[in-house]
Amino acid sequence: MYPRLVINTEKYRYNVNRIQNLCHRHGLSMMAVTKVFCAAKPLTQVLKEEKVDYIADSRLINLKRISTTIPKVLLRLVSLHEVDEVVNVTDISLNSELSVIKALNKAAEKYDQRHSVILMVDIGDLREGIYYKENLDIIIEEMFKLKHVDLKGIGTNLTCYGGIIPTQDTLKKLIDIVNHVEEKFDLNLDIISGGNSSHLHLLDKDIHIDKINNLRIGEAIALGRETAFGEQLEVLYNDVFTLETDIIELKKKPSIPEGDIGMDAFGKKPQFTDLGVINRAILGIGHQDVDYYELIPYDKHVRLIGSSSDHIIAGLTNTENRYKVGDVIRFKLTYGSLLSLMTSEYVEKYYVQTI
Ligand SMILES: Cc1ncc(COP(=O)(O)O)c(C=O)c1O
Repeated sequence: MYPRLVINTEKYRYNVNRIQNLCHRHGLSMMAVTKVFCAAKPLTQVLKEEKVDYIADSRLINLKRISTTIPKVLLRLVSLHEVDEVVNVTDISLNSELSVIKALNKAAEKYDQRHSVILMVDIGDLREGIYYKENLDIIIEEMFKLKHVDLKGIGTNLTCYGGIIPTQDTLKKLIDIVNHVEEKFDLNLDIISGGNSSHLHLLDKDIHIDKINNLRIGEAIALGRETAFGEQLEVLYNDVFTLETDIIELKKKPSIPEGDIGMDAFGKKPQFTDLGVINRAILGIGHQDVDYYELIPYDKHVRLIGSSSDHIIAGLTNTENRYKVGDVIRFKLTYGSLLSLMTSEYVEKYYVQTI
């Protein structure tokens, strides 16, 4: 059935091992992040078989489905309304709000559990985290009064929101905060979590930031790309995931609609470039499944020109009579397209095991 996402578990396994070995060579543990593929079972099975250090996801519902002895980490800050489930489903969560940590403590007490907390600090990317040291000491002092939560470590997240690139100078801000906490409270933190796939460009250049001992990696393993500069990591597969979708109509038509132009299906006034009469293919996949401009056709003669909920329209230039109705067009993916295609129940997930 089409559309389908062809998922190569062995290429994924290879990428997992390459990145985990790279991390280990630099003295870092790795949290393998599963959210971009909705923690799909055949891929989390690979993580279990390869014995990754941690499995991490931003959605509790995904972590719930993974049965493993590998420590599970909730990446998105905990909601006050899910503390009971968090202490029962996960081992570690990322936090920045004292009220939530206190609620986690209460929940952990209720279920006779202990829960580990990584405190997130914001060093300028401006998504989650305690802003530098603002109230940090007070939060830690209060945490020490709690009997059922442990301060496992300190972490930061860069690039995802503000696009801030991890550099030695930027990460020094994290290290200053860690040093301050360790000196003031006379402790050694277990985990100093330095970031996500955007950190890998440093390891690639053999730059290790002293004290950082953990990374949380999703995109690089799934798509073979570091995310500070969007560069392909040469040793990795970038085709773990391939979208295949079929042509459901193929006709020569003009490139500009005829008549008065109002709104498209999404209330926007569309704009067109006149390319004369072109070969127009309709693909059986639409905006409900993916943004068409996030798809990268393998065939450079295929140009995606628009979409509605259930259709993507492609212009086929210089393809002679190579394509006919029913033929399959293949695409490489970006992070955004992988995320939405994995989330769409209308896209079949088809697993292959051969490299
Ligand atoms: C807090 C946090 N850490 C790590 C990651 C993984 O990021 P990436 O997929 O760029 O490696 C994410 C995103 O999924 C995240 O939200």
